[in-house]
Amino acid sequence: MNILVTGAAGFIGSNLVKALLTRGHRVVGLDNINSYYDTRLKYARLAYAGIEQGDIRDGRMTTSSLSPDYRFIKLDLTDRIGMERLFADEAFDVVINMAAQAGVRYSIENPQAYIDSNVVGFLNVLECCRHHTVKTLLYASSSSVYGTDCDVPFREDAPTDSPVSLYAATKKTDELMAHVYHKLYGLTTIGLRFFTVYGPAGRPDMAPFLFLKSILEGKTIRVFNHGHLDRDFTYIDDITEGVMQIFDRMPTAEPLCRVYNIGRSEPVQLMKFIHVLEDTCGKKAVMEMTDMQPGDVLRTYADTTRLYEDFGYRPSVSVEEGIRRFYEWYVDYTNSHHNG
Ligand SMILES: NC(=O)c1ccc[n+]([C@@H]2O[C@H](COP(=O)([O-])OP(=O)(O)OC[C@H]3O[C@@H](n4cnc5c(N)ncnc54)[C@H](O)[C@@H]3O)[C@@H](O)[C@H]2O)c1
Repeated sequence: MNILVTGAAGFIGSNLVKALLTRGHRVVGLDNINSYYDTRLKYARLAYAGIEQGDIRDGRMTTSSLSPDYRFIKLDLTDRIGMERLFADEAFDVVINMAAQAGVRYSIENPQAYIDSNVVGFLNVLECCRHHTVKTLLYASSSSVYGTDCDVPFREDAPTDSPVSLYAATKKTDELMAHVYHKLYGLTTIGLRFFTVYGPAGRPDMAPFLFLKSILEGKTIRVFNHGHLDRDFTYIDDITEGVMQIFDRMPTAEPLCRVYNIGRSEPVQLMKFIHVLEDTCGKKAVMEMTDMQPGDVLRTYADTTRLYEDFGYRPSVSVEEGIRRFYEWYVDYTNSHHNG
């Protein structure tokens, strides 16, 4: 199959590219490589897949030095003409949309970026699917759609009408737009509600990375809501495997419109998470206890019954194991980075 993965220089997208190539698919990766966080990490992820920074040109395909089946294009979802041309040239079978402006805190500072990438950009993806060969769209949603009022564990059929951040509102908007394109044009749309993902080459703007970095550098970490937060931390391989289970085995007879939680289903208190980080790296955290940040939720907790019933899959990597693997990657990455 010919598959487009957007957000291919991002944390989750880069892992999905790898998994798809392993399964023998042809993949085009797309990303605008924006500077929301350190682009060196985005280029490093691309380099892991054989795409060298020096070979990347705006709007042009670069073929991976590791696999002829992987090509990468630097393109923005909001570039309507560029997107249209790409879809016309490539005849994709499936699109996996991971590109988005992520992060809750930044949506307070820069709301426009969320509307641009997550709403206008997502509309372009839907329109291109509609007008070309694409039968199936898998796209990233988020646990943040559950807001603060949902009972735990969060079930997919719970009401999600009360988002508390613009980020969450754009993810909910994506689900609604996907529903429309399913109803009107028979596109199969599968929304993936991810729960706090961490692991090797993870996002530097998220707590696991920020905390580990600060602990190792002896810097102070800010612990929101005085540590009284629960997060359903989910290891990246569990996310990748969950998406691949859906991808490999989704029914194709009829167009579908579904959303799935993909989360560990075992929320961890923030303080416990910090203690596991401390134990893993053998250093104590210096902590500054602060209030809740606006837009944040007290806890996330995935009910994964639907994923299990439909695909027989449940995430399984423990926080101890996941942090150990994350820590090993981090030490390796920072060493090779500092050595040039
Ligand atoms: N990581 C998590 O914990 C988590 C949790 C819930 C949902 N999600 C969602 O999963 C998806 C992937 O998240 P991630 O953690 O890999 O984030 P990420 O920021 O690492 O990856 C997103 C990538 O998309 C690219 N991008 C952003 N806007 C773009 C645009 N307009 N055009 C082209 N490329 C663009 C960025 O450069 C980035 O490389 C996102 O949609 C995110 O909202 C992530």
